Amino acid sequence: GRPIRVALLGCGTVGTQIVRLLTEQADELAARIGTPVELVGIAVRRADRHREVPAELLTTDAAALVARDDVDVVVEVVGGIEPTREWLLTALRAGKSVVTANKALLAEHAGDLFTAADASGADLYFEAAVAGAIPLLRPLRESLAGDRITRVMGIVNGTTNFILSAMDETGAGYAETLDEAARLGYAEADPTADVDGYDAAAKAAILASLSFHTRVTMGDVHREGISAVTPADVAAARGLGRTIKLLAICERVEAADGTASVAVRVHPAMIPRSHPLAGVGGAFNAVFVEAEAAGQLMFYGQGAGGAPTASAVLGDLVAVARNRVVGGRGPRESAYADLAVRPIAQA
Ligand code: NDP
Ligand code: HSE
Repeated sequence: GRPIRVALLGCGTVGTQIVRLLTEQADELAARIGTPVELVGIAVRRADRHREVPAELLTTDAAALVARDDVDVVVEVVGGIEPTREWLLTALRAGKSVVTANKALLAEHAGDLFTAADASGADLYFEAAVAGAIPLLRPLRESLAGDRITRVMGIVNGTTNFILSAMDETGAGYAETLDEAARLGYAEADPTADVDGYDAAAKAAILASLSFHTRVTMGDVHREGISAVTPADVAAARGLGRTIKLLAICERVEAADGTASVAVRVHPAMIPRSHPLAGVGGAFNAVFVEAEAAGQLMFYGQGAGGAPTASAVLGDLVAVARNRVVGGRGPRESAYADLAVRPIAQA
């Protein structure tokens, strides 16, 4: 059949791995989707730095690439809020499906993006935005859609987990470990997003929005990062049989009058070494989900890095491409925006 034509925005840590997997697995992907995937353009900032991809695909004009009539799907791995928000809204309004790993954007503007997607019938998928390779958002959006989720809690930032794990295991200092996390492709372009908890807060907002069918944005999330955690704190926790982890916690809270609200917070916590989250090391993530009928579920895997993140992006690309082949689409989200559950800011 007619190929699914893909515009890739960004070719850094994640984007280069997407290009590699698309190239290496072209035949398998075509068989799974029922039609080939064709990469029609790659937008970057500095075209001369990208000898790893075919020169004829490169452009520095992402807006023009998004606007091309022959593009079916836009895959965005640039990051940041502007101009990315504008590119993705343009794509969705034109009925082009969007796959993105951009948690910072989704945590602030998911409402507008979902509204644009639902108006045109386009798909908006973003599995890679939370917990890297771990299939987590699809289970929340789809598999658990018939249950009532009461709590989502876990480690959702690989960089800070890498730093805290190293401080705990080797007594290493904070700054040298952060440099290592950046070198390995785990950290954000501005790593203060990781260490000050903004990245985890963005992921918590996304998790809470999907889990509780409401709109939680960054301003609703109580946030503390790890920059104040010292080697002495880590050693003291160790002496108490505990370890320090940066946790994201999203809870459904029922008031005495029966009304429900959502509390969302990110902060370092001392947890017993016997707790399953204590054993989550390196850039791994782990998330517990509690639902009334399902009980407790645990999701675990690589939370950051080029190839693990590209795996989640490619899974989304296959899903939206399959939807195009059969003329269907994924779950609508804008319709759920007004349920009674509301975020409450934490002091
Ligand atoms: P990088 O900084 O490695 O890559 C960013 C890419 O975007 C680069 O190729 C850069 O071009 C390109 N770019 C920047 N500005 C523009 C612009 N104005 N127009 C066109 N292209 C532009 O980031 P990552 O790959 O690490 O992350 C990308 C996204 O994925 C972010 O949203 C991040 O939060 C998210 N993410 C990252 C994970 C990870 O582990 N790294 C995990 C999960 C999500 P050039 O190369 O020419 O500079
Ligand atoms: N900087 C992020 C992290 C990338 O360390 O978890 C994955 O979202």
